[in-house]
Amino acid sequence: MSVYFCEENQIFHLQTKDTSYVFCVSDFNALEHLYYGKKIPTDNVKYISNRQIYSHVAHESRDKRDFCASVQGFEIAPFNGGDIRTPSVVYDVAGDVHANRLRYRSHKIYAGREPIEGLPYSRADENTQTLEVVLSDDDNNLFFTLYYVVFPETNVIARYQKLENKGSVSVFIRRFSSFCLDFYTMDFDAVTLEGIYLYEKASVSRSPIKRGVFKCNSLTGTSSHNRNPFLALCRHNADEDMGEVYGFNLLYSGNFMQEVSVGCLGDMRVVGGIDDTGFSWTLAKGESLVSPEAVMTYSDQGLGGMSRNFHDHIRSHIIERKFAYAPRPIVINSWEASYFAVSEEKVLTLAESASSCGADTVVLDDGWFRPNDRKGLGDWRTDLERFPSGIHGLTEKVHAMGLKFGLWLEPEMVNEDSDLYREHPEWILSTSKLPLISRYQYVLDLTRDEVVERVASRIIEELAGAKIDYIKWDFNRYATEAGSHATPSGEVYHRQMLGGYKLLSRIKAQFPDVLFETCCGGGGRFDLGMLFYSPQIWTSDNTDPYARTYIQYGTSYGYPVSAISCHFTEGDCTSGRESTYAFRYRVASFGSYGYELDLSKYTDEDKAIFKGYSEEYRRDEALNLQGDLYRLLSPEETDYCAYIKVSKDKKRALFTFLELYASGFVESMTLRLKGLDPNVAYRNERTGEVLYGATLMNVGIRIGDLYRKKREDGDSILFVAVE
Ligand code: GLA
Repeated sequence: MSVYFCEENQIFHLQTKDTSYVFCVSDFNALEHLYYGKKIPTDNVKYISNRQIYSHVAHESRDKRDFCASVQGFEIAPFNGGDIRTPSVVYDVAGDVHANRLRYRSHKIYAGREPIEGLPYSRADENTQTLEVVLSDDDNNLFFTLYYVVFPETNVIARYQKLENKGSVSVFIRRFSSFCLDFYTMDFDAVTLEGIYLYEKASVSRSPIKRGVFKCNSLTGTSSHNRNPFLALCRHNADEDMGEVYGFNLLYSGNFMQEVSVGCLGDMRVVGGIDDTGFSWTLAKGESLVSPEAVMTYSDQGLGGMSRNFHDHIRSHIIERKFAYAPRPIVINSWEASYFAVSEEKVLTLAESASSCGADTVVLDDGWFRPNDRKGLGDWRTDLERFPSGIHGLTEKVHAMGLKFGLWLEPEMVNEDSDLYREHPEWILSTSKLPLISRYQYVLDLTRDEVVERVASRIIEELAGAKIDYIKWDFNRYATEAGSHATPSGEVYHRQMLGGYKLLSRIKAQFPDVLFETCCGGGGRFDLGMLFYSPQIWTSDNTDPYARTYIQYGTSYGYPVSAISCHFTEGDCTSGRESTYAFRYRVASFGSYGYELDLSKYTDEDKAIFKGYSEEYRRDEALNLQGDLYRLLSPEETDYCAYIKVSKDKKRALFTFLELYASGFVESMTLRLKGLDPNVAYRNERTGEVLYGATLMNVGIRIGDLYRKKREDGDSILFVAVE
């Protein structure tokens, strides 16, 4: 059992393997937050509810001065009640802002969970339990349901809310967060993943919470290249391995916000969900609105422990089961090999050499329906001059060569030069007669069902019968000027995201066994919403392995390595910087591995080297899919990047060390490993030396012993437990 309710004291206690989350129904029937952190015994939760807080602002307790709505923690915080802090919901009814007092009405506890219709969510297993608590705004006959879905073994609690309008008039919602969480101290640092196109999540930013508001959000119609929905709040003394860290993320790919605000007594509130900039949603009588799901976790094992909780949760509850732990395709992708200059002949040539480098899936990227990025998006008509057998025929040929086939799509977009746009110029998001254009394309108005249906049926028709094993689903511009001819402006961004998920689900349903990899001009939609539909995401268009080291390391704070799609490429396309093959392999094997280069330029010896890399990747792939990641040296903080991936049973571990800038001292450096079993003896598969986990983790390994040939290659060492 992970959800307890104490009838006598009206206290809810949600327990995971290592954490407790406690709240109660207060004397005034509000939902008062009491505690979130390290696990405590259920017998003691009553103790936390006896708090005495001096009050000087208006509150429901007319004659008790020990209750203050402004410092008390709440599970939901409506605007304009006695709580004068940052609200988690703002709404007004028929034009008047009401003092929205929400009172507890009922609750239910059950095994498993309900799916959220139209939105991604964490999938239940036999250990999952749900608590639903209903509150009402009695003045207006509105009902809020707060959902708490508890995943005990991953230490994650998922939260979201629903508002039902059972009143007689419309409700105008201005802010509708997925969760609200109060702390009685502001002694935390906020950790966010910052970046930009080509440097997504490359910077792990840590800044102390100060008085005022800290907001991490996106206004691009995507979760964006710039900021990510992931947020961690860690104690000032917490580091990678020790100290308390709270992690938050959203299963949402559109405009999001994570907002941390500090109240008058130095107390801190976190609210997260849909960004409310420009958001306003009309809920007519009888209608309801459900927020996206948020996930939160707690660890006293530092940022590393928090990351591993999320990695486990994402693999076992967000990614589709059939893909989560299965070996991933080793793709050879046509993009950096040929860009738009693709043809059937070139794809078949790529396919011929694919197996010589150990790839098993040939991916035809952009260009199969157009010669450049100026036309064709939206029409999805194969260029039969360059692909005379059509996609269907090409897939037959590739399969006959013993390979799988992948195809690139960008279904949410339309080129200005397309029949679809000429026929329906009103089917794009725009607010003016001369809409802003980016990459010669517009974002289709997916708030309209007919647009979703038209695009889905066109793509399905074009690909009918084709033997497709993998789809790369791209999104190459932001949704600026998000106006619609069919949808009120305040609802466009969120309805657009709902339409995007609908389109993705519709096409996925047609290709149930196809592995989808999502992408957004690189890593502009690297989020949990997308991971619900696709087990891996293209991390960045920057494939320079030096830059990738930062990007991938940063991404690992919120996301498991198997979700991080990485390719061995020419290496210098984005930077002009040279790198060795071995270094490129080390970096690309951090995540789900593949190739993206013109193999015809490479000799048989080169291909044999690549084949060796593919084999090494397959040998160690289980550590990516199922193991635990321990970060050792951050590229942002040192001249190196190092990490170790350890199997859950602690019998195998792969240690990787990368040197980013030549330093004279590395030979004498000793690095302490992590995550091993101190009492187990491990054989270093390189040297044959056997050392206990205790020695490797406390004394460390000598980096100078690692290098076989060139320091710029970096290196990996496999440690295997001696039986
Ligand atoms: C985006 C992707 C690339 C490639 C191109 C094709 O930029 O991130 O990998 O697919 O689109 O146009």
